[in-house]
Amino acid sequence: MAEATPQTIYLKDYTPFGYQVDEVHLTFHLSPKATRVVSRIEFTPKPDAVERSFFLHGEQLKLIAAKIDGQPVSPDVTAQGLTCDVPSTPFVWESEVEISPVTNTALEGLYMSNGMYCTQCEAEGFRKITYYPDRPDVMSTFTVRIEGDEKVLLSNGNPTDSGEGWAEWHDPWPKPAYLFALVAGDLVNHPDSFTTASGQDVELNIWVRPGDEGKCAFGMEALKKSMTWDEQVYGLEYDLDIFNIVAVDDFNMGAMENKGLNIFNSSCVLASPETSTDANFERIEAIIAHEYFHNWTGNRITCRDWFQLCLKEGLTVYRDSQFTSDMRSASVKRISDVIDLRGRQFAEDNGPLAHQVRPESFQEINNFYTATIYEKGAEVIGMLKRLVGDEAYAKAVALYFERHDGQACTIEDWLQVFEDSTGRDLSQFSKWYSQAGTPRIKVTDDYSDGTYTLTLEQSTPPTPGQPDKDPRVIPVAVGLLGQNGDEVRGTEVLELTEAKQSFSFDGLASKPVPSILREFSAPIIMERESTNAERAFLLAHDSDSFNRWEAGNTLAKEARVAMVLDAAAPDADYLDALTKLVRDDSLDPAFRALVLSPPSQSDLAQTLFERGHTPDPQAIYDAAETFAQTLAEALTDSLPRLYADTTVQGAYSSDAESAGKRDLNARILSLLTRLDGGEAAARQYDAADNMTQQNAALACLLKAENGEAQSQAFYDQWQGDRLVMDKWFGLQVACSAPKKAASAAANLTEHALFDLKNPNRFRAVMGALAMNQAGFHYEGGAGYQLLADNLIALDALNPQTTARMCSAFQTWKRYDSTRQELIRAQLERISATDNLSRDTNEMVSRILNG
Ligand code: PHE
Ligand code: ZN
Repeated sequence: MAEATPQTIYLKDYTPFGYQVDEVHLTFHLSPKATRVVSRIEFTPKPDAVERSFFLHGEQLKLIAAKIDGQPVSPDVTAQGLTCDVPSTPFVWESEVEISPVTNTALEGLYMSNGMYCTQCEAEGFRKITYYPDRPDVMSTFTVRIEGDEKVLLSNGNPTDSGEGWAEWHDPWPKPAYLFALVAGDLVNHPDSFTTASGQDVELNIWVRPGDEGKCAFGMEALKKSMTWDEQVYGLEYDLDIFNIVAVDDFNMGAMENKGLNIFNSSCVLASPETSTDANFERIEAIIAHEYFHNWTGNRITCRDWFQLCLKEGLTVYRDSQFTSDMRSASVKRISDVIDLRGRQFAEDNGPLAHQVRPESFQEINNFYTATIYEKGAEVIGMLKRLVGDEAYAKAVALYFERHDGQACTIEDWLQVFEDSTGRDLSQFSKWYSQAGTPRIKVTDDYSDGTYTLTLEQSTPPTPGQPDKDPRVIPVAVGLLGQNGDEVRGTEVLELTEAKQSFSFDGLASKPVPSILREFSAPIIMERESTNAERAFLLAHDSDSFNRWEAGNTLAKEARVAMVLDAAAPDADYLDALTKLVRDDSLDPAFRALVLSPPSQSDLAQTLFERGHTPDPQAIYDAAETFAQTLAEALTDSLPRLYADTTVQGAYSSDAESAGKRDLNARILSLLTRLDGGEAAARQYDAADNMTQQNAALACLLKAENGEAQSQAFYDQWQGDRLVMDKWFGLQVACSAPKKAASAAANLTEHALFDLKNPNRFRAVMGALAMNQAGFHYEGGAGYQLLADNLIALDALNPQTTARMCSAFQTWKRYDSTRQELIRAQLERISATDNLSRDTNEMVSRILNG
């Protein structure tokens, strides 16, 4: 049971704060158990204020002293904050509080990680540092003095002065408290510099613990590329003399865009060929870009309230995906984004946790840093751009920066700049923000007398709290292919606005093959009857690489569905197409790797569920195994040569082309391992001089249950490296056969290096268990029980990470009644835990009742 009845916060209740904050001065006297924070804040009552009460947030603070205009005052203090009588003219608030960073395991506010002090204030962590109006629409300039013995003392903005044991910082840009940051530790830096387009010199640093200096170069290059890209593509320059990045081992999320002082989970910034995989490199580049891009989309223009979170996150994800497309392969990026969207966002949008891109209520905002806000939020921007066109998009965004720089904004402000600059009415489009759920589009077609007609019918299933949905504006990009595979109509965007609408194409000599939803132009589920022959045709001929992949992906899915439902053999035509594709050297290796990557088990479970079946995770797993085994056997003669041909020789480079080749190589190795029991993988393991190949080889060997020696060797080699050890923990669970996954995870939680307090390590084990679908859902429910045990244990330490991990249970209603009951029992057990956090309580009750 949660401590008190949780309070729900509503968008409709928004009222501005009654006071303007003119300036903030903070002094930190650092000490692990008793840090003193002294604040001096200048307030001016707003003449037109609706809300007059002077309430400052504050949690887990020990108030030592408070003054107004130099006179001691005695505010009314509760667990959430304080109220105080204040003058009706401008006044100075001063307070001194004491906090204990070293016991702060929630990793929110000021805490310690490996002996260094660091902060995390988004969304509402600043209130654990000092009393303050901790809301994003209160923006002010901050001057910070840090006193401590640590060698490096950092905060936001520019350094202004320092001496032995102290440093002062001033951030000239008004910002909300959630962007405040402080770091203090015996850190070392990887320095560099950048000159902006207008000639400003910026000092750049990546700060790490001694020993990690060698893992900074890649991140630094990514930062400089991001700075250049934002100047070139969006015309946005950096605006301080210095930009600092700090790597922290204990962090709840990926990274944080604090003004001028980004703080990163070390897994999202530290990279070296020996310790990081290609996937790590790509992710690091994207996250560095993401946080850097927030400097404009988030920091210079921020959110009025937390309901508008997608204003900064959707836009910034959209921008970082544009960046990655430009740096690497646009089509590979699009395909991977869609795989991710379907895997995470569709699961959320079609279950009990479904919520709007802009929610209208919440209990705990930390629970809304979701795939819907981030990834669907980005999809919505992509649709907007497609509807108005690239030029109009650029114009509207420029107007956004011109009109709103320095402000805390809403989605209405964002849509308004598009309406004003294009003259287009976006009221129907705005439903993408206000209606939860994934639209379905049913497609039928007809051909007669040279005219081809597509009829699109849209509907969105009910979601919690939203039984009825209106039609939305949906951009559907379509091209038409002739019978010989040539394109007879290039891509055209159909604007679906009605519940049901037809679109005609004239002057066609014969019935074309449609390529619908090119580039995945909208985050919807398309339902269309088609044949495997038509899919194979598109896989061979479509000029849109997304839809080529999609055709193959649908074939892959249908083949497995037939195996699960009808005990069918792997579809022969598809196998045939696949074996040709794998061997086709004219195709981009990254694309071949994507075509070879099987649809996720979760995606298949969802597909079966949608079609009215109860998915059996074990049957889905077995089908995948049989399919892969059959494919490997069909390729018996080619695999050794393919493996050799795709092996990247020479010094490691993380560029997209080599990475794509290694990805294909790893998939071929996993097929080969099915035939040779691990001989090639063992050789690769021994020869590997980079983590991508070492990791891939170990995964194959563990999967083949023939990797004990290598696993031990890996452990011996890397036990001193926390990030590599996370891989070791994760792989053993990820590669376990279903019936062994829960016990493998259970054993790992007993390992000396397992640490509940480190979110990366916790996720390595528990996240891998949840991802191993057949293992997690294995009959008997040991996986459910183990996860629940660990969630309960973690909740007392770290509510945020616990609550996020609860989403492993969100798909529970898909499954049979036995599994449902097993899961329900665990959810109820979590929910009945004494002193359960508000975070976890909200998640569990939404999953149970949604
Ligand atoms: N704002 C961060 C990002 O998207 C994510 C984050 C949220 C980090 C909350 C920490 C806490 O880049
Ligand atoms: Zn972000």
